[in-house]
Amino acid sequence: MRRVVPFAMLGLVALLASGVVAAQQGAAPAASQATPPEALNWAYGVLPGTPLPGAAPAAGAPAGGRAGGAPAAAPDPTPLTIPGSTLSFTRAQIGNGFGPADWFPGDHPTMPAIVAQGKQPQVRACALCHYPNGKGRPENAGVTGLPVAYFIQTMNDFRNDTRKSAEPRKNNTNVMVQIAKGMTPEEIQQAADYFGAMKWTPWVTVKETATVPKTRIAGGLYLKLDGNETEPLGTRIIEVPEFTERSEILRDPRAPFIAYAPVGSVKKGEALVKTGGNGKTVACATCHGADLNGLGPVPGLAGRSPSYLARQMYDIKAGARKGVWSELMKPAVDKLTPEDYVNITAYLASRPVAPAATATAAR
Ligand code: HEC
Ligand code: HEC
Repeated sequence: MRRVVPFAMLGLVALLASGVVAAQQGAAPAASQATPPEALNWAYGVLPGTPLPGAAPAAGAPAGGRAGGAPAAAPDPTPLTIPGSTLSFTRAQIGNGFGPADWFPGDHPTMPAIVAQGKQPQVRACALCHYPNGKGRPENAGVTGLPVAYFIQTMNDFRNDTRKSAEPRKNNTNVMVQIAKGMTPEEIQQAADYFGAMKWTPWVTVKETATVPKTRIAGGLYLKLDGNETEPLGTRIIEVPEFTERSEILRDPRAPFIAYAPVGSVKKGEALVKTGGNGKTVACATCHGADLNGLGPVPGLAGRSPSYLARQMYDIKAGARKGVWSELMKPAVDKLTPEDYVNITAYLASRPVAPAATATAAR
């Protein structure tokens, strides 16, 4: 197995190079930007009936969504606490876009200013949405453990309008684009180095089930309703905080998530990921690494949010995400059905992060 790695890397470098050339020549076909089918609503977390940007808001519909998840309530001076932290913060401090709460300063290296405080007026602190440890939430992204070259590339794609959401109503992606546009190359490098120096550790547990708790959507995040009401899961993944308040209100960067997935989805996803399912897709390990923990500049997929992963795959298929490297993903996503997204991402999210894989790839 060890011998295979250099060949895989070589192929990948060639592929990346050809992708770069195609993009530079503008040879990539202009893909039609199809908005996501209703069957993928679970991945985008947009409330049904939310008006398109620019349209008059429908009565009763939330205005734009709270991009940072910051509470809109009047300032409440009560000091709040979370399990395991000796610190306390008010709601306003927790939701401060230019210096949010850092509950566990010992969990991460010293944050560069751009991560901890951001930059007025446009660049809100990365730590607000992605948390100081970079683990992020399903409605944004886990940014820890990404290869530095990939991190920089994707930030530039946001800046160049070649990375958007296929769902124009996913407001926080539009916010992310504005943040990237407000940053200098040095600030992007600092953020990439900071998050890239930390190792990804999964914090979502995949549970196969036929029924799920009823949920509501707040700022793109699914939250369990109070009480014990359930509904059929169907062909979806519903990803929720295990402890609603610790995630929604307190933004606890240690509070884990559960991804409810259909019975049998992990096994079906495994077949597609490993074999490509007779030409339906392609084996992901060639580029994403034997254990799907990433390979060279290609990002890891193991143990990451299934909603995030599914969104990206559809965004690439729809041509909303058409960065310099995105073309390489086309054969993997072009023929997928909505059910395939469920199965593939249930499997990816259930994968452990294997320390051995990193050691082998580095040799
Ligand atoms: C208001 C919330 C918010 C803030 C603040 C924020 N981001 Fe993001 N970020 C997002 C969202 C939402 C996405 C995912 C977009 C999607 O799924 O379409 C994202 C995605 C990313 C990604 C892509 C991850 C991947 O795997 O490709 C990177 C990198 C990133 N952000 C970096 C940053 C940096 C650096 C900062 C601070 C300067 C920052 N973000 C601040 C909301 C935010
Ligand atoms: C030929 C190489 C190649 C293969 C095979 C491949 N990928 Fe990728 N993948 C990439 C590259 C390169 C990127 C970065 C794309 C970009 O920057 O736009 C990527 C990005 C992704 C992303 C977005 C990651 C993020 O952090 O935003 C997901 C999800 C993904 N791939 C899933 C898969 C799955 C699932 C498979 C197999 C079914 C697969 N890929 C097969 C090369 C590949």
